[in-house]
Amino acid sequence: INIEAFQIDLVHWFQEEQRDLPWRKNNDPYRVWVSEVMLQQTRVDTVIPYYNRFLEKFPTIEAFANADEEEILKIWEGLGYYSRVRNLHTAVKEVVVDYGGKVPDSKEEISKLKGVGPYTAGAVLSIAYGKPIPAVDGNVMRVLSRILLITDDIAKPASRKTFEMAGEGLIYHDNPSYFNQALMELGALICTPTSPACLLCPVREHCEAFAKGVQDELPVKTRK
Ligand code: ADE
Repeated sequence: INIEAFQIDLVHWFQEEQRDLPWRKNNDPYRVWVSEVMLQQTRVDTVIPYYNRFLEKFPTIEAFANADEEEILKIWEGLGYYSRVRNLHTAVKEVVVDYGGKVPDSKEEISKLKGVGPYTAGAVLSIAYGKPIPAVDGNVMRVLSRILLITDDIAKPASRKTFEMAGEGLIYHDNPSYFNQALMELGALICTPTSPACLLCPVREHCEAFAKGVQDELPVKTRK
């Protein structure tokens, strides 16, 4: 793969074709963090109104830190996976107390916060702070498996390392935020789980799976 050409083609496509989503209007680390936690197990269309209501009610990290349990559960009602908002609340209170309300900008520190795993850490650090750290979720694993013909089983936790390393090798240092979001967007719009739209794909000429015609066989995923 010609990494530079891949990066340019991908980011250029994202600049032209990205969806207009509310969390893309602002790179405030708190807002990015809220959006990424909501998006972890919930689809974009569902998240949009929750995200907007959440930030109307809790526009700053301090406002959310000071909310009580009842209020935070009420605003999350219907999104499910309530431990997400409980962990976020715990973590945000830590940020206010230990970091004066500034979300930490190092992988080491942000990863210590409750509920912040490698995906959320990479997403916040790249989108809010421009750090060249990959943000690898299931969608990004699918895209990477096809581009680089990675056959590690994505159902196995041990495979995560392979994909993280692949992400590290590809990330576009000139704009890590757009690069990571472009991989997510490609996974959402083009490089879909079934019937990927390869003929519309901005990076098909860089895709090993497309070259071999095996895009429908990737990623490898055993039943859990
Ligand atoms: N899925 C996870 N993070 C996302 C983001 N920032 N934009 C769109 N979809 C996403």
